[in-house]
Amino acid sequence: MSKADVVIGCFYGDEGKGKVIDYLAADADIAVRATGGDNAGHTIRVDDVKYAMHLIPSGILSGHTIGVIGNGVVLNPAVLLEEIANLKAHGYDVEHYLKISEKAHVILPYHQLMDAALEKRRSAKIGTTGKGIGPAYCDKYERSGLRMEDLYAPDFADKLRRLTESRLELLKFYDPENPAFDGLLDFDRLLEIYNGYAKELSGYVCDTLTFLHKALEQDKKIVVEGAQATLLDIDFGSYPFVTSSNPTIGGILTGTGLSAADIGNVYGVIKAYSSRVGEGPYVTELLDATGDRIRELGHEYGTTTGRPRRCGWLDLVALKYARRVNGLTALSVNHLDTIGRFDRIQVCVAYDCDGEVTEDFSTNLKLLGRAKPVYRELAGNFGDLSGCKSFEELPQAAQDYIRFIEDYIGIPVRFIGTGAGREAMLVRETVC
Ligand code: GDP
Ligand code: IMO
Ligand code: MG
Repeated sequence: MSKADVVIGCFYGDEGKGKVIDYLAADADIAVRATGGDNAGHTIRVDDVKYAMHLIPSGILSGHTIGVIGNGVVLNPAVLLEEIANLKAHGYDVEHYLKISEKAHVILPYHQLMDAALEKRRSAKIGTTGKGIGPAYCDKYERSGLRMEDLYAPDFADKLRRLTESRLELLKFYDPENPAFDGLLDFDRLLEIYNGYAKELSGYVCDTLTFLHKALEQDKKIVVEGAQATLLDIDFGSYPFVTSSNPTIGGILTGTGLSAADIGNVYGVIKAYSSRVGEGPYVTELLDATGDRIRELGHEYGTTTGRPRRCGWLDLVALKYARRVNGLTALSVNHLDTIGRFDRIQVCVAYDCDGEVTEDFSTNLKLLGRAKPVYRELAGNFGDLSGCKSFEELPQAAQDYIRFIEDYIGIPVRFIGTGAGREAMLVRETVC
């Protein structure tokens, strides 16, 4: 029986998880998304075509890997159908290579309106993606949400009407002036739209839990594509500046139905620096010209919202926390090419909280607010890495940078990104 490998973001998202999944998918039968929704944006470049995947697992781009949208996902059918159409336009046989959990929750138009209404009322903004993720998870945990299987139930129209009417009352309370709510009053139109989605998606909806377990029993190779990241986790991130799911290892299990015993390697993905979109604490953020330079060199603009990403140096204190929370077995370090453009590179090795120096990350906002990064300076100026085909071919300073991370965190770096393209990835085969 085989085990599923997992790819998890270590910081605030956008570490290049899609690219690592794309690599692993070359050898995988199944790629599965466990959590989040179309707040995720995973970029993969294949032969000069850039794909921004929001819901469908990036692994499907291999052409032979079945993409599974797990039960832990909140799914906007309109976005999914657009993604399906785009993949079909590029020649992908989506019909045979996509499965959707019958238990995945459905995002409805009011979720997005509620997301905007709640954000508008917040004094401390979260900077959500506006995709309705939080409100959809609220309905799930309040036990009112609609799952994919409900779209096909005889009482669907009743359920949709009751839910929409009750939430409309709430919306009016939160944001009385918003004219967009009138659209929701046309219930017949809403029902027609969602019945249309149900029809188009019917061939994909199934019991993905059984599908995944049978695949493992048949020794098939599964890779789980984490979305968001450790410090955006609803429990382990910088609450309330987080997303509304558990992108960490626990959420991978509950979002797929795989058990702890089914998990093999857990790959933590980082960039050789760090970035964050949205609000919230960020200890190594650079609000100066160096931060701007990282943003420009790394093209750090959001895949989902196009927002400029906040940028800063690599934070090993936070990375150690991600290793602890997720049980990481190895790392993927992307954007080594980008960080290598700097002459000198700073890496955060401890936090100084009013004279108290610690290497232990905390999600306590007061502590995080006071924490000043303690940096170690390393040599940069790596030069052009595009010709390097193995770790040993990297310049000494680049190798030293990777080894410094390994020594601090205590797990090996298996994948190294040297560019945005599919081929720009060094794999250290001896590292599992
Ligand atoms: P994800 O959400 O974790 O999948 O990451 P995103 O796709 O949102 O953001 C990562 C960005 O970095 C994308 O634009 C990738 O094309 C790009 N990228 C990934 N790895 C590398 C790398 O090693 N070097 C460079 N220059 N770009 C990379
Ligand atoms: P990937 O998978 C970066 C952030 C939002 C916001 C917070 C809450 O591409 O790494 P939400 O819409 O989820 O309620 O927003 O979480 N966020 C992400 N930031 N990458 C992501 O996904 C993100 N998904 C959510 O910017 O700060
Ligand atoms: Mg992203």
